[in-house]
Amino acid sequence: MGTLLYSAPMAGYTNYAHRELLRMFGGVDLIATEMVSARSFAELAMRGNELPSRLWGVRDEPRPLSVQIWDNNPDTLSQLAQRLAFEFKVSVIDLNFGCPAKQIANRSASGSFLLQFPNRIGDLVQKVVSAAGQVPVTAKIRLGRTRDTINAIDVAQSIEDAGAAGLTVHGRTATEMYRGNANWDEIAAIKPKLKSIPLIGNGDIRTVDDALFCIKNYPVDGIMIGRGSIERPWIFRQITQMLRGEAVDLEPTATELRNLIKKHFNLLKRQFNDHIALLLIRKTVCHYAINRFGVKKFRNAISSAKEPAIFFQLIEEFFH
Ligand SMILES: Cc1cc2nc3c(=O)[nH]c(=O)nc-3n(C[C@H](O)[C@H](O)[C@H](O)COP(=O)(O)O)c2cc1C
Repeated sequence: MGTLLYSAPMAGYTNYAHRELLRMFGGVDLIATEMVSARSFAELAMRGNELPSRLWGVRDEPRPLSVQIWDNNPDTLSQLAQRLAFEFKVSVIDLNFGCPAKQIANRSASGSFLLQFPNRIGDLVQKVVSAAGQVPVTAKIRLGRTRDTINAIDVAQSIEDAGAAGLTVHGRTATEMYRGNANWDEIAAIKPKLKSIPLIGNGDIRTVDDALFCIKNYPVDGIMIGRGSIERPWIFRQITQMLRGEAVDLEPTATELRNLIKKHFNLLKRQFNDHIALLLIRKTVCHYAINRFGVKKFRNAISSAKEPAIFFQLIEEFFH
């Protein structure tokens, strides 16, 4: 088995449209949704059969697809896992034990809050594994809550012993949020402590060279890319080409980027109204603009573009 290339779950970004772009470019082995709240799924289910908007597209879109879910209650998680496995027939169910956001970790005692309780995490994984039938259950963690309480090895072993099929580790602690650099040595230290499940390393891979460096220097079975795949959704294709010894695609030209932005906007419109689609595409193009001359002015202009026509006019002027 070659190195696994996974796209990271990212709330606010990895919606249906983004996943479609990743599929279009190819090279990615597993694509993830945004994290879905198991509690809001349960609440919506009680009120009828409405689905959380983050599950939009999931029922019908191509596989393989990993759906990430979060909560701290085994029954709530299992209920959603069961439906995802048997009704939606997703490829993988991923449990979030890494989110450091206040709303999740503090107010909901979920995500990275649970890292301090490896046994509780094991219990949650085990319940979800039994609810998910044949569908593999994976988990995504950080190194620990704080630098002083790094316990990723304990958590990883608990996850493996509970029957998970894979583990992704973001090489930061929860309190570090996104500061500093991901610590890949800490990720590597987990590998010899696992019996057989694949270890996926995550953090700060922004280029093909970064990816190659991590694959060559750390004993991971795969890598996961988050922000780098917003900035460059074609990155997985380039990494695959590089790993196969093929010629690596050049970066897209300005014309190709403009076409990509149009395509992305149209994909967003399948799910969202014009207003929301515009807000989302504005966020994304700011990532494409990084390192280009005049980016600051462009960002200001784009953030006040209230109509698609004005937005696309600015795109024509900036990406040329
Ligand atoms: C905007 C944003 C949203 C994120 N949402 C999630 C999420 O829903 N679930 C999750 O496990 N991690 C989430 N993450 C963390 C990423 O999956 C990833 O672990 C982190 O960005 C580090 O990888 P990177 O350096 O490749 O971006 C998010 C990160 C960002 C920047």
